[in-house]
This record gives sequence, C-alpha cells and structure tokens, in this order.
Amino acid sequence: MKGYTVWFTGLSGAGKSALANLLAQEVRKRGQQVEIIDGDVIRRSLSKGLGFTKDGRDENIRRVGHVCSYLTATSRVAIAACISPYRNIRDRNRDLIGDFVEVYCKCNVQECARRDVKGLYAKAFAGEIKGFTGVDDPYEEPLNPEILVETDKETIEESLTQIIVKLEEMGYLPKSDGIGEEEEVRVVERLKELGYL
Ligand code: ADX
Repeated sequence: MKGYTVWFTGLSGAGKSALANLLAQEVRKRGQQVEIIDGDVIRRSLSKGLGFTKDGRDENIRRVGHVCSYLTATSRVAIAACISPYRNIRDRNRDLIGDFVEVYCKCNVQECARRDVKGLYAKAFAGEIKGFTGVDDPYEEPLNPEILVETDKETIEESLTQIIVKLEEMGYLPKSDGIGEEEEVRVVERLKELGYL
C-alpha cells in the first residue's frame, strides 16, 4: 500500500489528539499500519527541551515532519497531532512528504478555554504562561486544508466521519465494506495452505 500522512493542526484543546486516536483505530481496522505522532508526547522525547518561541515550534514541527516523511516513505500511515501554528513550516512538510492530508481542527478559543482539559488556558489568561497559542501567540489558519472539521459545531463522530469519507475519496483509505488488506493477505495465505489456490 501507499503511505500517507494525515496532519492535524489547530489550537490546544481543539480535539486533534482525540480525533487522531479514533482515526488511527479505524485505519488499523482497515488493514493499514499506522503511527500517531502527538505533540504532547514528542515534546517529552524527540523535542525535549525545545521551547514555544517561533523558532522552537518550527524546529519541533520540522522534526515531526521528518518522522512522518520516513513513515510515509516506508508505506505506513503517519498521523500527526501538533498545534503547528505556522503555515510556512506546515507547507514545507507538505512539500517534503508529498502524500499529505491537512486536517484543520477549527475551534474557537472560547470553547477550547471552556474545555481546558489540561488547565493551561486558565494559566495563560492569568498570565502565568506567556505566549500561549490563541491567547497571546499567533495561530495561522490553513488557507486550503484538504479537510476542515469544526469541532465547536460538530460532534466528534461527525468530524471523524468527514475525515474518513474524504480519505476514502482521495483513495488513501480502503472502503470498509469487504475486508482490510492485512486480513485479505491472511485469508489468501490460509487458502494456499489449504490447497485451494
Ligand atoms: S507546537 O506549537 O510546537 O506545534 P505542540 O503541539 O508540540 O506545539 O505542543 C502543544 C502542547 O504543549 C499544548 O497542547 C500544551 O499542552 C503545551 N504547551 C505548553 N506551553 C505552550 C504554549 N506556550 N503554547 C501552546 N501550547 C503549549
């Protein structure tokens, strides 16, 4: 199969990680090998020590882009979930990777702050965290994302369905009717063992 990258971008709390995880489950079910590259995880490992200045963020996104590029080139599905607030570096990753599907998780900052899953918006509004995306740091919206989900207006199931349908239309994700590629291989091998093929 052909590898590809699904790149989730959007504010903290917009639902990138949740959608990435649900999508990964579905992709796996359909027989494709998938890895999630989540900003929160990467910042404790590959990007440990990098800050949240523009340079720090661009370097983080450049590294994640390389991981995605490697996975994509080796026929895997890479799902990245990083704020990735700067358009230029996102577009550089698009050029590097080629098979790149940008998903903009659009959610207004009031709703992200209302959810405040990690309690960081409260700190940012109190001035305890400086340079927090959407509060006192920029977020550059994608101009032409392949997929736009509005997580402050849709249920997570609706957003997920939109993504799956679009990936099917683009020919990246096999349709769910019928069996997945891996399962198909297993069935063919079993039929050979039994002497039918
Ligand atoms: S990115 O801007 O470089 O793409 P990334 O997705 O890796 O960000 O990490 C974002 C996560 O780091 C947030 O979800 C939040 O938990 C945490 N974080 C800490 N400081 C900041 C900040 N100043 N702005 C945004 N997120 C921050």
